[in-house]
Amino acid sequence: MNAPVTLQRLGADAARFVAKEKKLYIDGTWVPAMEGGTIDVIDPATGKAFDRVPEGKAADIDRAVAAARKAFDDGPWANMTPADRGKLVWKLGDLVERHADELAELEALDNGKPVTDARNGDVAFSYELLRYMAGWSTKICGQTIPLSAGAPFHAYTLREPVGVCGQIVPWNFSFMMAVWKVAPALAAGCTIVLKPAEQTPLTALRLAELVEEAGFPAGVFNVVTGYGETAGAALAAHPDVDKVAFTGSTEIGKKILDAAKGNLKKVSLELGGKSPMIVFADADPAVAIPAIAYGIFYNMGQTCTAGTRLYVHKDIADTILTGLKAFAESMSIGVGLDPKTQIGPLVSQEQFDRVSAYVKAGLADGAKLYCGGNRAGTEGYFLEPTILTETTSDMSVVKEEIFGPVLVVATFDDDDIDSVVKEANNSIYGLAGSVFTRDVSRAHKVAKKLKAGTVGVNTHHVIDPALPFGGFNQSGWGREQGYEAILLYTEVKSVGIAL
Ligand code: NAI
Ligand code: MG
Repeated sequence: MNAPVTLQRLGADAARFVAKEKKLYIDGTWVPAMEGGTIDVIDPATGKAFDRVPEGKAADIDRAVAAARKAFDDGPWANMTPADRGKLVWKLGDLVERHADELAELEALDNGKPVTDARNGDVAFSYELLRYMAGWSTKICGQTIPLSAGAPFHAYTLREPVGVCGQIVPWNFSFMMAVWKVAPALAAGCTIVLKPAEQTPLTALRLAELVEEAGFPAGVFNVVTGYGETAGAALAAHPDVDKVAFTGSTEIGKKILDAAKGNLKKVSLELGGKSPMIVFADADPAVAIPAIAYGIFYNMGQTCTAGTRLYVHKDIADTILTGLKAFAESMSIGVGLDPKTQIGPLVSQEQFDRVSAYVKAGLADGAKLYCGGNRAGTEGYFLEPTILTETTSDMSVVKEEIFGPVLVVATFDDDDIDSVVKEANNSIYGLAGSVFTRDVSRAHKVAKKLKAGTVGVNTHHVIDPALPFGGFNQSGWGREQGYEAILLYTEVKSVGIAL
């Protein structure tokens, strides 16, 4: 792997942003945290701090919520036409695209992810999503409803913005997760307090600068950097917040629910996953192998939809595994900011330890190490793409979300779909799944039977701004993307007019 020289690889714009003193963005102004504390920002390629951001706490959340409340209840935002709102969201998309290289570099530095993936994935998806959602601004409608029992009313529904939204996002796709939440909320006319993950706060602050540059009214969008247990918890519990949207672990998702209880704010949750990939004997290896490798190793496996469990028919298992091993061993491991990098470091020491402990536990439980498993390099949080075979359903590596570049493999020998689908569905999660086969009928049957919010056929990761995304079971509540996301940020009001 390449030596972790990182900061020097930044372009001029990203370097300028890193050099700036970071502040919270509240009510259209930049302010330090009230208690003055800061959080170090760590470069996962070296483990060293290179920046710091304010440590916002409950008092900062109070200020930000008050600004969002005012902007929603009284501000110019509330009276803006849908067309003007849509234009601002579109403009934000244009600004994100104009600064795409800079945003990708900041994300690659802060999170460790490959800059090429950040540019073509995270950032490109984000500006396309902003434009997609900008289009919805002018198309959010109620219905006229003929009353069923014949009351003499003319009745219709209004679809109104839900109000002040607290949005709490994780570190794995920090910028993109923020935009997933911000874009539909703005399009629907809500106001926002965003809390990015403490590990990766930079791109949310850069997004706030772009919001300011686009010309959104003060208070519509606020960013408070801070820890989950303090700033995050205060936001989720705040009585003046109408809705909380969260992406992160299932464990914290449950805490968000508890916190939201006080004022029964609306809740949407995108949580963990343990997504299966099923390969039948008739699958095309040339299609399946790269798709599976991308399914598990993209973003170093720190992807909620990662295909982490592989069920492969024994007649094709050797071919698939040999191909996967060659693929894994050919991946270029290095610092995120190197455009050739395919595998960067994990985000933090904590994640590195967590994932390494899972690999160890899997081996202790009797799984076989097929490839990888070692730390790469001598500094930073690099882990080789890893494949464990001969796994069984009782192992922690098969049951729990690892959130690292670790594929667990089991074989099956039944041509029938039922037993393998039953195994695939044997999880507390239900975010995604995929099936590889050339039999069209079998593909549709498996797609129907998998308990998952998104299913891929002869591919694994399936996402698009127009396509609903979310989880069955403990993978979450609600769907983001598409019109479904607009539904998450609106409330329905029924109006009856006595005739
Ligand atoms: P986390 O769920 O603790 O963090 C996600 C976000 O929630 C961060 O912004 C954090 O500051 C905030 N948060 C933490 N505690 C909070 C609280 N009590 N109230 C409100 N907000 C709070 O995830 P973490 O600890 O970074 O990662 C642990 C595991 O979670 C990972 O190994 C992975 O398995 C899973 N995870 C899943 C993600 C997904 O996309 N589904 C994303 C990140 C983590
Ligand atoms: Mg946590």
